Amino acid sequence: MKPLLKPARFIAGALVCAVAIMIGLPQLLQAGSHLPSALVSDDVSGEFRTIHVRGAIDLDNGFFQSLGTNGRSCVTCHDPSDAWGLASAHVKARFDATLGMDPLFRTNDGSTSPLADVSTVEARRAAYKMLLTKGLIRVGIGVPAGAEFELVSVDDPYGYASTTELSLFRRPLPTTNLAFLSAVMWDGRETFAGESMHFDLSDQANGATLGHAAGINPLTPAQRNSIANFELGLYTAQDYDNAAGNLDAHGANGGPKALAKQNFFIGINDVFSLGFNPSVFTLFDAWDARHGSSNDPTMSARAAIARGQEIFNTRPIAISGVNGLNDKLGVTQLNGTCSTCHDAPNGGDHSVSLPVDIGIASADRRTPDMPLYTFRNNTTGAEVSTTDPGRALITGKWKDMSLFKGPILRGLAGRAPYFHDGSAATIQEAINFYDARFNLALTTQEKADLAAFLLAL
Ligand code: HEC
Ligand code: HEC
Repeated sequence: MKPLLKPARFIAGALVCAVAIMIGLPQLLQAGSHLPSALVSDDVSGEFRTIHVRGAIDLDNGFFQSLGTNGRSCVTCHDPSDAWGLASAHVKARFDATLGMDPLFRTNDGSTSPLADVSTVEARRAAYKMLLTKGLIRVGIGVPAGAEFELVSVDDPYGYASTTELSLFRRPLPTTNLAFLSAVMWDGRETFAGESMHFDLSDQANGATLGHAAGINPLTPAQRNSIANFELGLYTAQDYDNAAGNLDAHGANGGPKALAKQNFFIGINDVFSLGFNPSVFTLFDAWDARHGSSNDPTMSARAAIARGQEIFNTRPIAISGVNGLNDKLGVTQLNGTCSTCHDAPNGGDHSVSLPVDIGIASADRRTPDMPLYTFRNNTTGAEVSTTDPGRALITGKWKDMSLFKGPILRGLAGRAPYFHDGSAATIQEAINFYDARFNLALTTQEKADLAAFLLAL
């Protein structure tokens, strides 16, 4: 058995990473330096890598430039060393390094309320606590005109939210692997009927500049295009696992190179169509059960990842009470798997837009740091409480209450916490959520296998 070596790092890459840890990648990028064609970062279970289909990662792209008025750029919240999302552990380091003055910490959407006191370090620590604890940004959206419901009560611990602007604390979604998207944003609000993903992302880039970066002038069409093109060329995945070694060894297909070759089109594998294939992930097919009989720890770690993939693809889940799915199909119980909802091959989002409510925002999971909103249906008088009405604020429809998209499941190890509200601090907590929500009765071994698999994505 050959000794396993970590994948060779581009020397410059190692340098950039080392410097980035010290001073923070966003600051480094503002210095205008150039990154090599591959970006590598350590994470909880190994390391992940980003590649761009056109070779070098172009740091002159608008994605890295301050195009608004508050010092922020896209990379402020979509950090390559956080798998292009925002890992809460790194938010703390940025706060400590700058005493809460990094452009991430701005009151328009970084604090618990736009009116929060940020005059001292301690005041800032309190004002930015949602960012510091769970990497959450305050997305402000009002109840749309003509909605089928009204907001009857608001319990906002920060005293700001109202019908005109609800405070919705949400995680930045990664801006990589976007070639697999079927809906843009947690509530799909940047997805437009009949438009291409390129158009949606161009529009989103403009909105993000005017909103998060407090821009005054809209981006030019050329700026929007180039940001969307940049994002669509990025691929990020775990490529090395501390226990299992290189994730593309011995016939496996982990890592970003294989991902960049993965086919995708809207509806490529659709649970509502004939020919649906529940074996959504095939990356670790080659690491089958035979590896498990080996005494070699690397081989048994590979077998665990392969077993986790098998659980994801095949473990029966009795799906009930999931709005957006059960009500849409008119079935009280749907016999599915994890891959019923996460059905894009080797990507793991839904291959057609399918916002659903798996219960993340439900009132019984509300923690004291989250606002709680109660809505009444104008026609039936029915009431529901939720920490985030999700898609319903976009469509105004009661049936869309608390519906969210399932994100792409790659590069997970680099960007904890999970779910739209960051309520699962670790992948293990996310698994425990599913175990309880769908009565899966997973054994300790099965949970460990599933975690090994998810962290190898
Ligand atoms: C202050 C933090 C912040 C900044 C700055 C920021 N974003 Fe985001 N981004 C978010 C959050 C939070 C979400 C999810 C919001 C939601 O779904 O309601 C998001 C979502 C996205 C998504 C959706 C991805 C998906 O899977 O649907 C894209 C694309 C994106 N941002 C691109 C950009 C670009 C381009 C810029 C710069 C022009 C930018 N962002 C600046 C916080 C930020
Ligand atoms: C009924 C549909 C459905 C099923 C079944 C399902 N998921 Fe999900 N998954 C979602 C949705 C929707 C989200 C986003 C929820 C939110 O944050 O509000 C999600 C989020 C996740 C996340 C967090 C991703 C992130 O970036 O925050 C992980 C991890 C995950 N699912 C894994 C699994 C696993 C493992 C299984 C099987 C045990 C599973 N899912 C079964 C719909 C589903």
